[in-house]
Amino acid sequence: MTVLRITDLDVHYGLGRRRRQALKGASLEVRPGEVVGLIGETGSGKSTLARAVLGLVPASGGRIVIDGEDVSGYRNRQWRSLRRRGVVQYVFQDPLRSLDPDLPVVDSLIEPLLIQGVPREEAVAKARTFLPKVRLDPELLDRLPAQLSGGQRQRVAVARALITEPKLVILDEPVSALDAANRVGVLEILKDLRATGIALVFISHDLGSVAGIADRVAVLYQGELVEVGTAREVVATPRHPYTRLLISSAPTLRTAAAGRAEREALRALLTA
Ligand SMILES: Nc1ncnc2c1ncn2[C@@H]1O[C@H](COP(=O)(O)OP(=O)(O)OP(=O)(O)O)[C@@H](O)[C@H]1O
Ligand SMILES: [Mg+2]
Repeated sequence: MTVLRITDLDVHYGLGRRRRQALKGASLEVRPGEVVGLIGETGSGKSTLARAVLGLVPASGGRIVIDGEDVSGYRNRQWRSLRRRGVVQYVFQDPLRSLDPDLPVVDSLIEPLLIQGVPREEAVAKARTFLPKVRLDPELLDRLPAQLSGGQRQRVAVARALITEPKLVILDEPVSALDAANRVGVLEILKDLRATGIALVFISHDLGSVAGIADRVAVLYQGELVEVGTAREVVATPRHPYTRLLISSAPTLRTAAAGRAEREALRALLTA
């Protein structure tokens, strides 16, 4: 049983001479309740993979199956209907993108429920009970996004993604914009979520922040998934030079950390 299965997924951007391949034959499975960390450097295709699963960029090849439903041939209307059902939710890399700056937090939070046809009063009541789960005070509901801290906005975006009780949540770089204390706070919220059976794909540059919470780690390098394994396997016996470089560069994985010379050697291997 899988919540998400992508097989040989290709995504291209641009047309004609500008056409570039951003994902090359990516295959990945996510099971219910599983936390998969998707890591890779900037431009490696992490957000592209997330967007393809949401139908926000078209796949040029391969298959995507979400909760048993083959969505590969879906047209825009079918994607919209799938997104409306809230089976998969995406927390954007930029938390401001998930929140309308002109609307009080409560309105952003209940929007996915209103789209599903839940009456407003019921939706607001649910929002109130939901905020403590992401460790936010319900009194923030009446504020505008600009009146919240970056960390609070991020939590509202996480709460907005969770409120439809999705089976899969993709969090794009949810901690990178945050300071250390908020980073730990959001990671703790995510750990709590695992108990609820929601599957999570957690996107990050930083293997260190992913390895601690992910059941499995998938490493993207230049549009290819070069390595997928349990966090322990990937850290202990990385197979791809890029993964070895990530491990040697991760300050929180100091035990496996290599010296500068080794990092440079790995870089040289990658650019060869
Ligand atoms: N709308 C677009 N049009 C053309 N090219 C794009 C578009 N979006 C992304 N790309 C390109 O596709 C590649 C993958 O981008 P993507 O945003 O998936 O990377 P990422 O791994 O999420 O990077 P980051 O860690 O910086 O967020 C990059 O080379 C990027 O320039
Ligand atoms: Mg990205």
